[in-house]
Amino acid sequence: MKCNYILDTNIILDYMLDRVDSNKNIYTIFTKLKNNFYLSSSQIHNIEYIFIHERKKEIGLEKSKEEWMAFIKNIKITKTPSYVDINDALFLQDSEDYLIELSAKVIDAKIITRNKNFLNNSELTISVDEFLKTDENKKASPIPFLDLKSINMQYFNEYEKAFDDVIRSGWYIQGTQVKAFEQEFADYCETKHCIGVANGLDALTLIIKAYKEMGVMQIGDEVIVPANTYIASILAISENGLTPVLVEPDIQTYNIDPALIEAKITEKTKAIMAVHLYGQVAAMNEINTIAKQHNLKVIEDSAQAHGAIYNGKRTGNLGNASGFSFYPGKNLGALGDGGAITTNDDQLAEIVRALGNYGSHKKYENKYQGVNSRLDEIQAAFLRVKLKQLDNEIQKRREIAGVYLENINNENIMLPYVNDQQAHVWHLFVIRTKNRDELQKYLLGNGIQTMIHYPISAHNQNAYKSWCEQSFPTTEKLQNEVLSLPISPVINVNEVKKIASGVNEYQKRCILK
Ligand SMILES: Cc1ncc(COP(=O)(O)O)c(C=O)c1O
Repeated sequence: MKCNYILDTNIILDYMLDRVDSNKNIYTIFTKLKNNFYLSSSQIHNIEYIFIHERKKEIGLEKSKEEWMAFIKNIKITKTPSYVDINDALFLQDSEDYLIELSAKVIDAKIITRNKNFLNNSELTISVDEFLKTDENKKASPIPFLDLKSINMQYFNEYEKAFDDVIRSGWYIQGTQVKAFEQEFADYCETKHCIGVANGLDALTLIIKAYKEMGVMQIGDEVIVPANTYIASILAISENGLTPVLVEPDIQTYNIDPALIEAKITEKTKAIMAVHLYGQVAAMNEINTIAKQHNLKVIEDSAQAHGAIYNGKRTGNLGNASGFSFYPGKNLGALGDGGAITTNDDQLAEIVRALGNYGSHKKYENKYQGVNSRLDEIQAAFLRVKLKQLDNEIQKRREIAGVYLENINNENIMLPYVNDQQAHVWHLFVIRTKNRDELQKYLLGNGIQTMIHYPISAHNQNAYKSWCEQSFPTTEKLQNEVLSLPISPVINVNEVKKIASGVNEYQKRCILK
């Protein structure tokens, strides 16, 4: 993880006022950091006052104000929190230093200072010389599977504003933030409707529940679903009293194999659930054609594929209705649970909205036996910040995937198959190998954390123990061979190259054995 720095007031003033005598290395700090440092909001007025007071003696008031404005507009400012502990030892000693330290804690920063007391009294401070040596001592740190903190720290200031807006609104459920997010996400997916719900599982469950209310489905009906999906796709079906009918995936794309669907259709089949696993869109042309021929609904499980494009349309707009998850680790992740349904079907949208709100479309009137499943105002406010960056983040994921695809050259490793590089959103980068568990251990030993999506398929789970006699060879092969490598918008290319060479290195060990 990259380190943040706050510069103490004395350092920034040395630089701005050319006080070279105080430390001859002063310019090296700025060359090294470029403009990549923070000031705490508690420092700004002080620095401004001293700078203008001193500088005006040389160039006059107007010019020094101009210089200040030119300087400050390029600086990143971080907040000074309001939760001040007036009994803290540092506060009692020097309240200004204490406020800077408090700001540093918020963004995990070190403070560069030449103030001896501050250096002695705060663990977050480092001297100029220590800072200049940082690269020399830097040890390679382990690479986490997913650094959620770094992903979210990118948007800290905007989240903070969103948080303030929600608190001040005095309205925390089904208010303006949810309404705005629903509109923005519907616009993004180019669908008529978006309905926020509590999580991705509820999104899928409520779609089926609504179809039951519409008379399209009933208890005992069947829904076709890929056998290798995450358990939530399947739970949404069984929770409604319908039967999940598992179909094997295509061994290349890992998405449902459309060629195997028709054999599983009976007179009870009412829908196909198309899961866009790992961020790659399922074969929607084929799926929609089969669905049309057999008069079935197509429900997309888009939990892993926000923003993925197929035939010029985004997920969420490729079937009759779609469920999204905003679980923190998803490509569009909240700071807690969240989910949404998108659809172009007016009736379905109206019923789903009511079902998630106790079955009520009007206060204290209950048309259906619903549940409580709503997207919170605070999560909607955070998601609005993230949605603006989604396409950028997808682009970064594509670049990372490109580095893996280019650098992993190991004949024991099967790389992901890509239908269309411009369409895939790379929620996960999944490789396959015969000695998966050994490779995972080897990478971990080299400081690289990986995960398995998913180690136990639904038909092998205790929750569905009546299916344990069924055989799904492709799904079982995948469950034993898949391994997800770290991918995210914040992982850097050097880390990715290190992982790729770790994976390549493992090949040598195999051959030597
Ligand atoms: C494919 C798939 N479907 C559904 C879900 C359920 O989403 P949530 O965790 O928000 O309930 C997830 C994620 O966890 C998922 O990966």
